[in-house]
Amino acid sequence: MGETQRLILTGDPAHDQPLIEQAGAVIRAGGLVAFPTETVYGLGADALNPKAVQRIFEAKERPTWDPLIVHVADVEQLRGVVKSLPPAAERLVQTLMPGPLTLVLPKADRIPDLVTAGRPTVAVRIPTHPVALALIRASATPIAAPSANRFGRPSPTTADHVMADLAGRIELVLDAGPTPVGVESTVLDLTAEPPVILRPGGVPREAIESQIGPVRLLEEAFPEGQPLPSPGTSPRHYAPRVPVLLCPPDPSALLQAALDALNRHERVGVMAPDGWQLPPSERLVCFDWGEWGNWQQLARRLFEGLRTLEAQGVDAILCPLPPAAELALALRDRLLRAAHLGGE
Ligand code: TXA
Ligand code: MG
Repeated sequence: MGETQRLILTGDPAHDQPLIEQAGAVIRAGGLVAFPTETVYGLGADALNPKAVQRIFEAKERPTWDPLIVHVADVEQLRGVVKSLPPAAERLVQTLMPGPLTLVLPKADRIPDLVTAGRPTVAVRIPTHPVALALIRASATPIAAPSANRFGRPSPTTADHVMADLAGRIELVLDAGPTPVGVESTVLDLTAEPPVILRPGGVPREAIESQIGPVRLLEEAFPEGQPLPSPGTSPRHYAPRVPVLLCPPDPSALLQAALDALNRHERVGVMAPDGWQLPPSERLVCFDWGEWGNWQQLARRLFEGLRTLEAQGVDAILCPLPPAAELALALRDRLLRAAHLGGE
């Protein structure tokens, strides 16, 4: 295939709509379009066209045992991709969707097996990003879309990240600037009782529990040693190409960990919270991550930081580990995976 076209959107509907229509035509013709969602950029294809979906796996070099999320524009379209909506799903659809929440539900027959990796369930979400919604409507079909990165790499939060991983492998990128949430959606399996969070993400556990009562994290539902039901939860994931080192989340621990890392690595990158002191060294490269405790801000800049430090040629990346609550849980999960320590 030829070059990947990059269409720059401005936020002005009169300018953007024709470009989104063009992208919709590519989807309808069985092509691949990378597009912004509120979480990260997705790599979209017509979810009802197995040949188009097959191309997603090839472009990402993603194994076909890892199923895809189906993106729909509204509740009506959502009803068309699932067999039924149990009461908890109805409730979440009313309260937390559209948003960074993905529901795993029994699949409708029209969803190809390739999308769900042969499972009887489908993962579905309604994004809030206006470009994602406009693209789904312009395509007039549900859009299957994983994150638009090569398999195992940090998810893309800008069109530059998409191009770095997928240029020449896909028809089109819709570039609408950085994505506002920055970590992927929360994946909630509603076919389990109680429901299980397969992947913590943009909607915190606490927000879900306030709507439907207790849910479990994967590691609570499947203690160590048992096979995991969600294929995408393998430890080796979200990883930059250099080792990620984690330290306890306080300034003195980071300072000490930075000194240790400088003894073992030539150039050390640091995901540095505002105002945390670091040893003066020319071999230290800082990424100004943001204000510790402001998880929205830190989430937005997490993958950008990992990719930026990696591109600056560091030999290791050091990062304080966020706590296991609210949005911080998603950051913690991605960093543990990036460090190959698995989920907890
Ligand atoms: O925010 C997001 O969710 C982004 C944007 C583009 O929407 N998408 C995304 O997709 O992160 P992906 O493919 O990178 O991650 C989807 C996760 C994987 O861990 C996959 O294994 C899981 O959802 N998943 C998909 N379908 C499933 C199913 N039927 N049962 C269990 N897990 C499923
Ligand atoms: Mg992904």
